[in-house]
Amino acid sequence: MKGLILSGGKGTRLQPLTYTSAKQLIPVANRPVLFRVLDTLVAAGITDIGIVTGDTATEIRAAVGDGARWNATITYIPQPAPLGLAHAVKISQDYLKDERFIMFLGDNVIQGGLAPLLREFATSDYNAQIVLTRVAEPQHYGVAELKDGRIVRLIEKPQTPPSNLALVGIYMFDSHIFEAVNAIQPSHRGELEITDAIQYLIEKGYHVHPYIHEGWWIDTGKPGDMIEANSKVLEELEPVVEGYVDRNSRLEGKVTIEKGAEIVNSRVRGPAIIGEDTRIINAYIGPFTSIYHHCLIESSEIEHSIILEYSQIVDIPQRIEDSLIGRHVTLMRSPIKPKAYKLTLGDHSQVGIL
Ligand code: DAU
Repeated sequence: MKGLILSGGKGTRLQPLTYTSAKQLIPVANRPVLFRVLDTLVAAGITDIGIVTGDTATEIRAAVGDGARWNATITYIPQPAPLGLAHAVKISQDYLKDERFIMFLGDNVIQGGLAPLLREFATSDYNAQIVLTRVAEPQHYGVAELKDGRIVRLIEKPQTPPSNLALVGIYMFDSHIFEAVNAIQPSHRGELEITDAIQYLIEKGYHVHPYIHEGWWIDTGKPGDMIEANSKVLEELEPVVEGYVDRNSRLEGKVTIEKGAEIVNSRVRGPAIIGEDTRIINAYIGPFTSIYHHCLIESSEIEHSIILEYSQIVDIPQRIEDSLIGRHVTLMRSPIKPKAYKLTLGDHSQVGIL
């Protein structure tokens, strides 16, 4: 079976971080979400993988390469514009041919593996299998209405959801999906929706099987979702200390210190991860925090946050919480008078001042 990862799209909900880079490459527990998707597919035995790319194709290609790191073969499929998930399937037909395949959205993080799901699909005569999970706010997702265990209707982001069962970004199809994606029309948001294509399969009498996922699942589309996904993955991470921790520092709970990192006179309370070549000096890193590589955190306190590479946080008097801080950001106290905030913030930045 082949795999298809969708890694195009715009990522507008994660601006400003996604002005300059692909949302699928933002790390969760210091590993890009797209890499986690690849890990999951390869662990389930899928090694022939197509990646649909958009504006950020160059960056995605540079990060993933030919897939040798995963012992996988990667085929890149450029999508000229983000015209919808069903459009992405449409343009992938030459690559997928008649084989059954699994499609995985490149910004989704899921608990557990795919093996049972794939086994069920591979040994069945289902034309499609979709993954559903119960969520608190179904209006933000594709939603399924079931009757006696069968799907009767799928609707994309309904104002009044008929159930709390959201479509997780993992779908399995046989080649009938091409008939569907070629038959449907763009939705009101101008996209060819995969939910409409699956609805087409249902109406034509094809067998679409619902699989209910009981573990957690996160669509990392918004900053709050990223921090939540980060917390969940950190909780499950097996701690490893490969960096240097001096005698005056304390690691508590599940803490991973990556190669070349230095912890000096600091306290790190897990679950937390400190990236390669990052320095933590006279600082406190609280639970559910990921600091990526080549950062400096000095004389500051951070908790429940994600800090991306090459950022520096120095001498901040109040604890930083629930924050998502981009790459090459400098946050420090300024000794220069007048005593004032001096900010250089990009469009769509959000800062909460005490
Ligand atoms: O995450 C689950 C949800 O994903 C489902 O519940 C919805 O039914 C489904 O439509 C989708 O909704 P989103 O609005 O979250 O999709 P988003 O635009 O964020 O795109 C998901 C991924 O697919 C993302 O990695 C970008 C990529 N993509 C998206 C579009 C629209 C493409 O590669 N090409 C595209 O044309």
